[in-house]
Amino acid sequence: MPTSLTRAALQALDRNDPLVSFHDEFDLPPDVIYLDGNSLGPLPRATPGRVAQVVAHEWGQSLIRAWNAHDWIGLPLRVGEKIGRIIGAEPGSTLVADSTSVNLFKLLAAALEARPTRRIILTERENFPTDLYMAQGLAALLQRGHEVRAVADPVAALNDDVAVLMLTHVNYRSGAMHDMATVTSAAHTVGALTLWDLSHSAGAVPLQLAEDGADFAVGCGYKYLNGGPGAPAFLSVAPRLQTDLQLPLTGWLGHANPFAFAPDYRPALGIGRGMVGTPPILNLAALEVGIEQMLRVPMDALHTKSQHLIDLFIALVEQECAEHGFRLLTPRDATRRGSQVALAHPDGYAIMQALIARGVIGDFRTPDVMRFGLAPLYVRHVDIWDAVTVLRKVMQTNAWRNPSLSEQRAVT
Ligand SMILES: Cc1ncc(COP(=O)(O)O)c(C=O)c1O
Repeated sequence: MPTSLTRAALQALDRNDPLVSFHDEFDLPPDVIYLDGNSLGPLPRATPGRVAQVVAHEWGQSLIRAWNAHDWIGLPLRVGEKIGRIIGAEPGSTLVADSTSVNLFKLLAAALEARPTRRIILTERENFPTDLYMAQGLAALLQRGHEVRAVADPVAALNDDVAVLMLTHVNYRSGAMHDMATVTSAAHTVGALTLWDLSHSAGAVPLQLAEDGADFAVGCGYKYLNGGPGAPAFLSVAPRLQTDLQLPLTGWLGHANPFAFAPDYRPALGIGRGMVGTPPILNLAALEVGIEQMLRVPMDALHTKSQHLIDLFIALVEQECAEHGFRLLTPRDATRRGSQVALAHPDGYAIMQALIARGVIGDFRTPDVMRFGLAPLYVRHVDIWDAVTVLRKVMQTNAWRNPSLSEQRAVT
């Protein structure tokens, strides 16, 4: 390890870390170093109690009355408002609903309606596949000659035929981050709207959607927001765009007055029209616990720690595993990355399986990317030391060459 770094020195950093107590607020197995919160956040200890209360008390005892008595009907907007604070959106911009994929579809369609004479959905080739697929599906459905243009440098490809620039803010593979303010301003200069996928940003990096002029945003609830498997997603629309917002999925709960049961659709005022059908109350209750927890920490403090953890991880891997052929994909510049480190290695899948078998849990993305999410709420400095120590041993002992580790499972 670097001579200035010792395990004891990192333990000392943890003792002085104002965030360290959050580690114990998660129900993490003692023999696990969890570096996959960029895929599925761990279980906050407060969540089972809250969900049990909603099940036994609210559902069990209040039954249908709970929609009013416990304001279940207001939960998507209430939790959305809290997420809005995390992402720096204006009040009244953000709603919890559906999945990220479905919200992408809804907002992309709205963006195309708002720019009816333009043909291009501009994005980047390296975008997360669901973003590309949803855009492709929408263009095919509309049959109005839209083109999904996926390029290496989307800002350079902006022109006055671009209706919407759709980008994932922090890249799911490399962890590289776009400059939201600069990119948004470039898009607006040619009259295009922006749609940001914040799945790897919300709860991971400081965001200021309102200040940066972002138009639309979506993101996952189950990653850094720790909302649990299949947690509902969020969508956010700048208030200036809400009055004329035409969404394609006009479900009854997005109606101005759902319980009037009128035969014709009339959208709710504001972001409430982003609702489609009945929200998943148990999942929303779990998500709210994760959000509440995150709101107790200033995002700047989280960011400072996460960037320090990343620098530490990179330095230790380079020191300890230099001869083992890892290639760093994540930018070294802390202003240009999210909260994960990506290492490319031709045998990355088997190496990651060997790490997981030893309790260091990250994940793998084809063709060769090992991802390590360093979520600062529960990852400690000493975890970085211990994780790199296990990685070094896996490489030195060739433990990853065990043939059983190369068999690809359904989820990588
Ligand atoms: C950037 C990004 N967007 C979207 C998704 C998928 O979202 P969902 O499955 O909620 O539709 C993911 C999932 O990992 C993602 O990483």
